[in-house]
Order: sequence, then C-alpha cells, then structure tokens
Amino acid sequence: MFKILVSDPLSEVGLQKLLEATDVEVVQKTGLKEEELVQIIPEFDALLVRSQTKVTPAIIEAASRLKAIGRAGVGVDNINIQAATSKGIVVINAPDGNTISTAEHSFAMIMALARRIPNAYHSMMNGQWDRKSFVGVELNQKVLGVVGLGRIGTEVAKRAKAFNMKVVAYDPFLTEERAKKLGVTPASIKELVSQADFITTHTPLTKETKYLISTKEFALMKDGVRIINCARGGIIEEKALYEAIVSGKVAGAALDVFEVEPPMENPLLKLPKVIVTPHLGASTVEAQENVAIDVSEEILHVLREQPFKNA
Ligand code: NAD
Ligand code: MLT
Repeated sequence: MFKILVSDPLSEVGLQKLLEATDVEVVQKTGLKEEELVQIIPEFDALLVRSQTKVTPAIIEAASRLKAIGRAGVGVDNINIQAATSKGIVVINAPDGNTISTAEHSFAMIMALARRIPNAYHSMMNGQWDRKSFVGVELNQKVLGVVGLGRIGTEVAKRAKAFNMKVVAYDPFLTEERAKKLGVTPASIKELVSQADFITTHTPLTKETKYLISTKEFALMKDGVRIINCARGGIIEEKALYEAIVSGKVAGAALDVFEVEPPMENPLLKLPKVIVTPHLGASTVEAQENVAIDVSEEILHVLREQPFKNA
C-alpha cells in the first residue's frame, strides 16, 4: 500500500481517483505546522499540497520514504525544489487545470477596476446612493498590455479581444507567428508599459520577473493607467506601485496576489484606488477539481512506476 498525505484542503471530487485506488491509503490532515509535518512525513510515499503548506528543506530531509510531492496548481514556489530534487523526490504540478478560472478572475478584476464596482458596492452597503463618485471607463478601444503570454495570459488576451481592446504583449518566447494568430502586437516591456491603458501580469515569479514593473516602468506609463496582478506578488514592486497611485500616475490597481501573503500590514490595502481579492484566481469548483484530478493521476503514475509528467 502507498500512503499519501494531503496537507491542504483539496477538492474531494478531484481526489476520487486516489480515494478509490485499492493500492493507496489517503490521509487528509490540514493546517499542520512545520514541526508536525516533520514528525509524520516519514510514514508517507507522497505528499499532496495546494499553497498553504510550505514544503521546507526540514520536511524534505525528514521524508525518508517520499517519492513525490504534488502541487494542486501551477506555481511550485511553496516547495523547495532544490532540496526535493537532490533527494530524488519528483515534484509534480497541475499546469492546465486552473488556467480558465484564473483568466476569468483576471478579467473580472479588469472590469471591476474599470467600473469601480467594489467601491460602489461598499458605498451602497454603507447606506449611500452616490452616482457621482464612481464614474468608470470603457474597455472598448483601450490598450491592454499583457506581460507573459502563456496559458493564462493568452486566455486573458482572447477575452480582451472580445471586448474590442487592442492587445500588446511582452513575452520573450512569443513568436511573430503566434502573435499574429492571436491578433496581439508583440512589444518590449518598455513599449508595453508606455502604450497600455491597462497592464496585467501573467508570468511566474523568477529572478528575471521579480520587480519587472517598478519605479522606472511606472515613470514610462500613461497617466491614469490601471494595473492588474493575478499572477504572483513581487512581479510588480509594491512600494513603487503605492507611490505611483499616491502620485496620481496610476488610476487604480486590482491585486489578487501580494509580496507577503496574507498581506496584513500592507499599505496598499489602505488606498481606495486599490481593489483586492485573497489569492482567489484558481478558487472555483471547476479549477479545484481539475487540478486535484491532474495531480492525483500523476502521483499514481510515479508511485506505480509508470510514465509521468513533472513540473
Ligand atoms: P505559463 O507558464 O503558461 O505562462 C507564463 C508565461 O510567462 C510564459 O509564456 C513565459 O514565456 C512567460 N515569461 C517567463 N518569463 C518572463 C519574463 N521574464 N518576461 C515576460 N514573460 C515571461 O503559466 P500560466 O499557467 O499562464 O501561469 C502564470 C502564472 O500565474 C503562474 O506562474 C502562477 O504564478 C500564476 N497563477 C496565479 C494564480 C492565482 O490564483 N492568482 C493561479 C494560477 C497561476
Ligand atoms: C497557482 O499557482 O496555481 C495558484 O497559486 C493557484 C492556487 O493554488 O491558489
């Protein structure tokens, strides 16, 4: 029997394959502290997480039987890959299952920002009937700058085209041919930030993308630009964003992700021009089922020594 620990809340439907497998015992224990995980991990052949569990070198060091770590989602930044790899532990993610949900959330944020929906809602729930303070802007004919035209960026770009937006995209791996097919204009980061009315980021957080949008880039932007980040905190430097909002350069920002999560002391949360969600991009029934199914299948492949896809 293979023993699998599920240490974050994952979709029950998505876990069906594991729960029904006759060669697997699934233990679901969430909210464990690092030291608790260190204690119990030696019993397990595989560990399944979303993003709350931080899979640290100490946990990996203690994992004497572990063959695989599965991440029900795209980003594997909560798993110490180096420690896992050097111990021969396979790290698996689910790169496709939450693409549509995250693209839809990004687009919902673009629209909420353009029409100031959260601000108007808040005002009305506080007993106001204020029709003057929440004048918005149309998306029609506006330029959307997409930073990172991968799975999610592409789906956001397609939705923007349906709203008659012009899309410019910065991605070092974007070919002319693909750009043409999608109807987007390839641009350098400088060109993108200086042309866009809305800028949305869809890259992973890496050495290259950390603070990709910072003071220098804000200085190049149009006055009244709007910024959306549903990828990872730290792609946009929060301090620079704060200053650009306070100075009036940026008309608004919609953030699903933060440099530190949860962002309790974050000054951006005090600004009315900022709208936020608590890392909800992938939080739909469909996405959570998809990613749990995908990662469960691959974990079974690893444990059963069958061909698998890894992160
Ligand atoms: P993807 O790998 O399909 O796309 C990422 C794109 O970024 C690629 O096309 C890549 O070429 C591009 N890129 C890499 N380095 C770059 C750079 N320096 N400058 C510009 N572009 C660069 O990934 P995806 O599935 O589209 O997801 C993107 C990111 O979104 C993930 O890495 C994850 O961090 C984040 N995400 C967030 C949520 C959420 O809940 N908010 C959900 C899913 C994914
Ligand atoms: C991801 O990288 O897939 C996201 O962070 C989504 C999530 O698991 O919440």
